[in-house]
Amino acid sequence: MAQDLLKGKKGIIFGALNDMSIAWKVAEQAVAHGAEIVLTNAPIAMRMGTINELAAKCNNCPVIPADATSEEDIQKLFEGSMEHFGGKIDFVLHSIGMSPNVRKGRHYTDLNYKFLQTTLDVSAISLHKTLATAKKLDALNDWGSVVALTYIAAQRTFPDYGDMADAKSLLESITRSFGYHYGVANKVRVNTISQSPTITTAGSGVKGFDEFIAYSESMSPLGNADALACADYCITMFSDLTRYVTMQNLFHDGGFSNTGVSMDVISKFAPEEK
Ligand SMILES: NC(=O)c1ccc[n+]([C@@H]2O[C@H](COP(=O)([O-])OP(=O)(O)OC[C@H]3O[C@@H](n4cnc5c(N)ncnc54)[C@H](O)[C@@H]3O)[C@@H](O)[C@H]2O)c1
Repeated sequence: MAQDLLKGKKGIIFGALNDMSIAWKVAEQAVAHGAEIVLTNAPIAMRMGTINELAAKCNNCPVIPADATSEEDIQKLFEGSMEHFGGKIDFVLHSIGMSPNVRKGRHYTDLNYKFLQTTLDVSAISLHKTLATAKKLDALNDWGSVVALTYIAAQRTFPDYGDMADAKSLLESITRSFGYHYGVANKVRVNTISQSPTITTAGSGVKGFDEFIAYSESMSPLGNADALACADYCITMFSDLTRYVTMQNLFHDGGFSNTGVSMDVISKFAPEEK
């Protein structure tokens, strides 16, 4: 397989906490495909996670801390990245999600609204802030590509996903709305990838996650897509091979989203033989 889909391209990757993170795999694959990258995460995640190990593996790339809810931090991130690269940026991965309501086990019908605001700010509005900052600084090259990760709970109800479902709906809406304006102005494309449930720190925060992964596996004709496969899809979206794809929510889920029921699941409801 060709290993140079991103040769000469420069990107910023948000959200690599540890080696389970989807962003970790995206960083590794981007570098394997010839990209130069800058890694970023919230300052607290730098202390809790192992991002510096990833930077060492990625040709000692810089790590610039940024709380994705802070416009000031995001501005410093883009300015620092452009200084490091000596020019503009070609791709950005937004791989950020966090809900204090889900973390603290608040039921969807009994949300703490301060927490809800944090959920929306961290998990969705941070994409708007990232795009708006990049646009104001004219930081992205024409035909640049921004990908944010999402989940099908934006379209269908998954009871334990809580207020993250609302955040993902907003994230996908920002993708369309900003994607329009950024496309017209600079031919920058903005898309979300809707990923299968994947075992990561954020994923495991959802109640009943192991059972849910098994359900999703048996409902997907190809099985659940793993983090590495998600990373490969992100690489194609950053590459020039997909340059007319924008404002889309792209399902990367082994067919789950278009399956009404699978024979595997239905067989579990068959009456027991007497
Ligand atoms: N794991 C799954 O099942 C799954 C499925 C579909 C979509 N996703 C999405 O993929 C993305 C990445 O999640 P993951 O599963 O790799 O888990 P993860 O826990 O490894 O990544 C989440 C990241 O968000 C970062 N983050 C949280 N608050 C932040 C802030 N204020 N500023 C900057 N960064 C902040 C965390 O530090 C962490 O690196 C999320 O958007 C998640 O919703 C995950």
